[in-house]
Amino acid sequence: MLTWDDRFSVKVTVIDEQHKQLFGSARRFSEAMQRNESREAFAELLGFLIEYGKMHFQTEEAIFLQCGYEAAASHIEQHQLFLDIVQGFKLRFESDDLIVAAEVVHFLENWLVEHVTTSDQRYVPCLAAQGLTKPSS
Ligand SMILES: [Fe+2]
Ligand SMILES: [Fe+2]
Repeated sequence: MLTWDDRFSVKVTVIDEQHKQLFGSARRFSEAMQRNESREAFAELLGFLIEYGKMHFQTEEAIFLQCGYEAAASHIEQHQLFLDIVQGFKLRFESDDLIVAAEVVHFLENWLVEHVTTSDQRYVPCLAAQGLTKPSS
């Protein structure tokens, strides 16, 4: 289960808030699985996650491009890969393909925690050097 922890913070309020929403979105998917909801419901939740994810990635990319982050290109590729994978899951829920919601929950939880705690943390020093982060308390 994804619960927010302060160690996930990138010290930029707008990004932290979006990360919390992404975690919430993955949690709703997991709860829908526990309630054994329909394939349409799963596809709809993934549709939201894709749209919200796109918005979040645009926000994040604009900020790290602004600070001249050296690993921007590979980070943007990771975002694109995530969107492609989630889009693939959504299409499988919409078709007759056999797909189990547990597989999606497993992917979302792993990817989000891994990405937010490693890849996203790597741009923090660059943002901090530009004065874009909050002072640590
Ligand atoms: Fe990211
Ligand atoms: Fe992020």
